[in-house]
Amino acid sequence: MKILGIETSCDETSAAVVEDGSIILSNVIASQMDIHARFGGVVPEVASRRHVELIIPTVQEALDKAQCTLNDIDCVSVINRPGLIGALIVGVATAKTIAFAAHLPLVAVHHIEGHIYANWLVSSDIQFPLICLVVSGGHSDLVLMTDHGKYEILARTRDDAAGEAFDKCARAMGLGYPGGPMIDKLAKDGNPHMVKFPRAKVGDTLDFSFSGLKTAVIRYVEGIESKPSINDLAASFQQAVVDVLVDHTFRAAEECGVKQVLMAGGVAANSGLQSAMKERGKELGIAVSAPPPILCTDNAAMAAAAAHYAYGRGEVTGLDMDSFASEPIGKRVG
Ligand code: KG4
Ligand code: ZN
Repeated sequence: MKILGIETSCDETSAAVVEDGSIILSNVIASQMDIHARFGGVVPEVASRRHVELIIPTVQEALDKAQCTLNDIDCVSVINRPGLIGALIVGVATAKTIAFAAHLPLVAVHHIEGHIYANWLVSSDIQFPLICLVVSGGHSDLVLMTDHGKYEILARTRDDAAGEAFDKCARAMGLGYPGGPMIDKLAKDGNPHMVKFPRAKVGDTLDFSFSGLKTAVIRYVEGIESKPSINDLAASFQQAVVDVLVDHTFRAAEECGVKQVLMAGGVAANSGLQSAMKERGKELGIAVSAPPPILCTDNAAMAAAAAHYAYGRGEVTGLDMDSFASEPIGKRVG
């Protein structure tokens, strides 16, 4: 079964064709990063307008690269929640139009569900129950999955998301947008123990909090006369985030007795986080799987992968399907 996926929830216009939920025939990502970098972050209205310009050529390129026409496609899927509403609407309107014109079923995908299913694009041996650490620009969630489509949120962030902390701290360090990849790169040549930044606890819950760390980094950068190198600063900040993410994820895995951990979302691309997660997993006998960086950040193949399983469960939506700026994972739409 070939599914056309569409994703426009933030600043990437993306379309993909995925076969049987795991074989990527194409995954075209038209990034708007350069435009938003000028403003130090995503400008929603600018993002929507750019999606309008890019969406049709992006869908066409995805079909061409997959050597398909719409006649070869069995289903259209689109991320319709959560995200920037004006940006989501562009993808949703495009998906509805294609579904209507080509008489195809339409599947609406939750953005986080998409991120999680990026793992099925690269791994054929994923066992339930599992814990997924979802860390992106908008989310820091620990999700317990007992089966396809069955999610329980065990933890979320009380303030900033992990990606937001990377981006804001990078800005404080004088780096550009998005900060995550730059901090990742600089941290490779830095000493993570040079500055002891705080690792926040939220009572005895598994919830995250990164705003204190962000404030500590900003104060540190603004405050002292002789600063460590940018590499040491980046490495020390990154280590503080990684320690908390690893600690909470494996506490959740042990409390739930699961033997499989997945990683998802833009921050899951972080090389320091991936190696720390894999190392801890090895120590505890828990399998850890993460998509390659290009499938961690926003892309449409993840939407098509998630839709494959949602379609199998009969979760087809009507053409009156809506877009939602904020919506929890697990609530059925359509
Ligand atoms: O999943 P994503 O592409 O979009 C959202 O759903 O938010 O995640 C984007 C976030 C940004 O905050 C970006 O700085 C972060 O992921 N990110 C990284 C890395 N690559 C992207 N953070 C740390 N290390 C990376 N290598
Ligand atoms: Zn995302």
